[in-house]
Amino acid sequence: MAKLTINENKKCGTIAPEIYGHFSEHLGRCIYEGVYVGEKSDIPNVNGMRSDVVEALKEIRVPVLRWPGGCFADEYHWMDGIGEKQSRKKLVNTHWGGVTEDNSFGTHEYMELCRQIGCKTYVNGNLGSGTVREMSEWVEYMTFSGVSPMADLRKKNGHEEPWVVDYFGVGNENWGCGGNMTAEHYANEYRRYQTYVRQFNKEHPISKVACGPGTADPWWTRKLLEICYDHAPEDSHGFMDLMSMHYYVVPGTWEHKGAATEYTDEEWYRTLRKSLFMDRLIRGHEAVTDQFDPDKKIGFAVDEWGNWFDVEKGTNPGFLYQQSTVRDALVAGITLNIFNKHCDRVRMACLAQTINVLQSVILTEGDRMVKTPTWHVLHQFRHHQGGALLQSGLTGVEEIGMGEEKVPAVTESVSEKDGVVTLTLNHLSLTDSADLSVQFADDRKREIVEASVVKSDDVHDCNTFDEPGVVEEKAFTDYRMEGRQIDVRLPAASVVLLRIK
Ligand code: AHR
Repeated sequence: MAKLTINENKKCGTIAPEIYGHFSEHLGRCIYEGVYVGEKSDIPNVNGMRSDVVEALKEIRVPVLRWPGGCFADEYHWMDGIGEKQSRKKLVNTHWGGVTEDNSFGTHEYMELCRQIGCKTYVNGNLGSGTVREMSEWVEYMTFSGVSPMADLRKKNGHEEPWVVDYFGVGNENWGCGGNMTAEHYANEYRRYQTYVRQFNKEHPISKVACGPGTADPWWTRKLLEICYDHAPEDSHGFMDLMSMHYYVVPGTWEHKGAATEYTDEEWYRTLRKSLFMDRLIRGHEAVTDQFDPDKKIGFAVDEWGNWFDVEKGTNPGFLYQQSTVRDALVAGITLNIFNKHCDRVRMACLAQTINVLQSVILTEGDRMVKTPTWHVLHQFRHHQGGALLQSGLTGVEEIGMGEEKVPAVTESVSEKDGVVTLTLNHLSLTDSADLSVQFADDRKREIVEASVVKSDDVHDCNTFDEPGVVEEKAFTDYRMEGRQIDVRLPAASVVLLRIK
């Protein structure tokens, strides 16, 4: 029988709540329709933000929301999105579907959305096609409290007080859609642009995020740190607080990624195997980063991650709309456990993308909304936010899969907060259940205070507007307490939460 050992006396760092962050881009129906419907909409809203969506995001305790992109960010000129809505510029969204961007959702609306959700702000600046002055003025507009041209403009536009910008991204994927730069070129540009991301608010300084590598490119990481690290200060909130990295799970090729809801058993295992690559990716960049920054002053922000499938049939290919099944639930569970285990370096992560795009937590159609299986996994995992990672390890876990697609049957992570231990388990097998014995280091008698599972009879199941509750978090009872040991029977293809006191 597989065994999980938990050493509750060995704390291995704090799981930053921001690891459970989200990403919202001006892409398809993420912002428009997804969350922003405008003040005059018949859909219940507060200042234009859909109340049902905001409520659902609050339920999973979204800690931080990245905006306005992605690739969109390096073509976004923030001044187009302020002032009277009727006179805001109408533009073509060249990256995503060639649709009209009317700029009715801009800085003020984004800040209002974060206020309603109660999350931190993460604004991604434009280094690819914007000027240093433009970036610097945006920061002044958002965060300066005194008298200045930009602060005065903000006040004129109806917001007297500055906002708090928790994180500011200096460009996005600048090795690709953000300007096709070489690592050396970007690193030098980063040095220049970040200089003018001023810290106007000394009590809430901005954490600066540099554009990190495209997937497994150690060269980018090395060059960036070689050119920039000597400027990193002793304390945080300085030159570079975080380095971003992006990784999408694509089961097929970029041309034929594979369908979201129709997949073979082999594709199931291939997708899960590829999601496990996140661990190697982090380790690889960590090995390079450790050479410059052994004290871990710079954190990683995996600010785009998730499954990327072919778009749903009949939808705009530039909108990246896809359904979400039990396979997405497993990829979410596997990835979040990996982030938890790397919490000493991974300080933020943003699932791409919140609503109606890629691995969303919410889908909308008119006034209807569904929570995807991924939403339910984030609801289970929310208990890890801010917890202390506990030392834990599995033995006797089988390797399962098909052909070359081999994966471990079970993955886990364990944290503790306010005297409650949260354990999240993924069972990757399509066919069999698995028995797991959970053992604590000490002899104290314990009780399970909460247990839930996300699974379904068919792994291809998804939640639709007509049947929104097919794959949900449900009560889990298949466990037995035996002294200091808990015997758990994990159902096939499931994500299980146990909370133990
Ligand atoms: O999330 C979709 C796109 O993927 C983002 O705009 C970009 O940063 C990445 O390539």
